[in-house]
Amino acid sequence: MMNSGSRSALVASGKKYRTRGISRRVSRITISAIKEMPLLASRIGGCVSLGQGIPSFPTPGHIVEAVCRALRDDPDSGKYTLGPGMSELRQAVARDLGARGIEADPDREICITVGAMEALSEAVLTVVERGDEVILPSPNYASHIEQVLLAEGVPVFVPLTREDWQLDVESIRNAVTPRTKAIVLCNPHNPTGANFAEADLRALAQIALENDLFVISDETYDFLVYDGQRCFSLSTLPELRGRIIATFSFSKKYAMTGWRVGYVYASEEILDQMMKIHDAMSICAPTVSQLAALAALQGPQDCVEQIRAALTRRRDLICARLDRLPDAFGYVKPRGAYYLMARYRFPGTDSMTFALRLLHEARVIGIPGAAFGPDGENHIRFSFGGAEEQIEEAFDRMERWFAGSPFSR
Ligand SMILES: Cc1ncc(COP(=O)(O)O)c(C=O)c1O
Repeated sequence: MMNSGSRSALVASGKKYRTRGISRRVSRITISAIKEMPLLASRIGGCVSLGQGIPSFPTPGHIVEAVCRALRDDPDSGKYTLGPGMSELRQAVARDLGARGIEADPDREICITVGAMEALSEAVLTVVERGDEVILPSPNYASHIEQVLLAEGVPVFVPLTREDWQLDVESIRNAVTPRTKAIVLCNPHNPTGANFAEADLRALAQIALENDLFVISDETYDFLVYDGQRCFSLSTLPELRGRIIATFSFSKKYAMTGWRVGYVYASEEILDQMMKIHDAMSICAPTVSQLAALAALQGPQDCVEQIRAALTRRRDLICARLDRLPDAFGYVKPRGAYYLMARYRFPGTDSMTFALRLLHEARVIGIPGAAFGPDGENHIRFSFGGAEEQIEEAFDRMERWFAGSPFSR
């Protein structure tokens, strides 16, 4: 269960706030350490990042061109779209989902959002009441915790298996109580790089159905698995229709993190409720970004293949460099997404201390494992979304740092 003490310890900046009247809802949450560490690093200068998950690739040229053309030629490109998004884009999304075995009605079951992040926040706010428990297989994406807390829900962390970061289905079943409302699951998985086994995902769906839970399925990295594996999507299960809210993103697949565009798929009844929040929060996703998303779906897909190939090389590189530091780190080889949780071998050092020392002393940005829930403690999350030179430089610095035995001082 949630330990609020450990959350405040995660404010890396050490700031104290005195303004009276800030809501409990907001006081209880933190800016994720994923965003805080780069902010701290920017004040230090000269740091190299294995931190935030920003892939190094530029947005593909044909997407940028399509947007430039629309801005020049189409007077509507600077105006609001319909709340759920441009009809043509929703149809393209439905076709794309259909090709992956997910049947979605573009007019009733899809809404284009400001990244997957808006969709996730809206999903949680739509189904979670104050005091409702939400199961988070953990370590978990940091923002899922804040989203649950913002809805005044209670995160219930259920550890993934340590040896390979897979779902522990029995522990999830045992964590269900009469207050449990939802399970939030990300696959492929940030922060561990896991690709969960289909049998376990099916078992999790069964638990949700038996206990009338919602499944909030974060499919931000749906395109990104390695070594010829398949990624199983819970959204393909017809029995979950009406209980699943699935969120998707253009950010990583098309190198569009800054465009802030994604989408949500849910039954009409759920989506109608979510749309009320969407309208109050953002009216519609930015029109230029919707145009970019449309160009991404309609254009050639070899850019996705190139991103996958480059990230496979970076995955192999980061593993090779970690293998040269066996006294410092243990890790599970990532099978999806572009992160791994490195377990550092320095007992008695909490992950925030480790990350801050790594930042100040080696000038390398990593994210403290505790940001990803209590089961992330004693780990540091490394992203390999950055260029190969950046990964090499970060590990050169770490090798020099460890050579000075920093933890025996
Ligand atoms: C697991 C996960 N979910 C959601 C997001 C947010 O995605 P978007 O950029 O589409 O808002 C991220 C971004 O890093 C992520 O890693």
